Amino acid sequence: MLNKKIEAAINAQINAEMWSAYLYLSMATKCHDLGYGGMANWFEIQFKEEQDHAQIFYKYVISRGGRVVLKPIDAVPTDWKDALDMFEETLKHEQVVTSLINDLYALATKEKDYATQSMLKWFIDEQVEEEENARTLIDSLKMINGNGYGLYMLDKELAARVYSTPSPLAAEE
Ligand code: FEO
Repeated sequence: MLNKKIEAAINAQINAEMWSAYLYLSMATKCHDLGYGGMANWFEIQFKEEQDHAQIFYKYVISRGGRVVLKPIDAVPTDWKDALDMFEETLKHEQVVTSLINDLYALATKEKDYATQSMLKWFIDEQVEEEENARTLIDSLKMINGNGYGLYMLDKELAARVYSTPSPLAAEE
């Protein structure tokens, strides 16, 4: 049976992941507005991945005999100055998510919940990748420095990103 404190914290994390999904979908709409179809594709895949993260937590709570309680999703920003502004906000947001995952792990450790610690390890690794991806794109955009051809090439590169089911969900397919 899932400890009530852990159950509440994971429910809050489900909400945070759904908010992240909504944030990235909002960024995708802005990319479409700016004519960056490839960047929109990148954010649409982020949108799917965040929903996957919520689903991994959802399934975990159920598998431990807990109760998922879905709360309202707060409004997300809808406008950014340019692509660099969006990726900088992406990095900042992922750093916040990393600290939320770390807090959850610390709580699971305090409560001696080893199964939750084990489940969270995938998220700890995932956050390293999430931050690295955003940082790499910020570096590229700084190098491009608003150059039209550079933006065109980066957009083309991001159009090639493909979605794949994350391993905790793929294992169940
Ligand atoms: Fe669910 Fe982008 O971390």
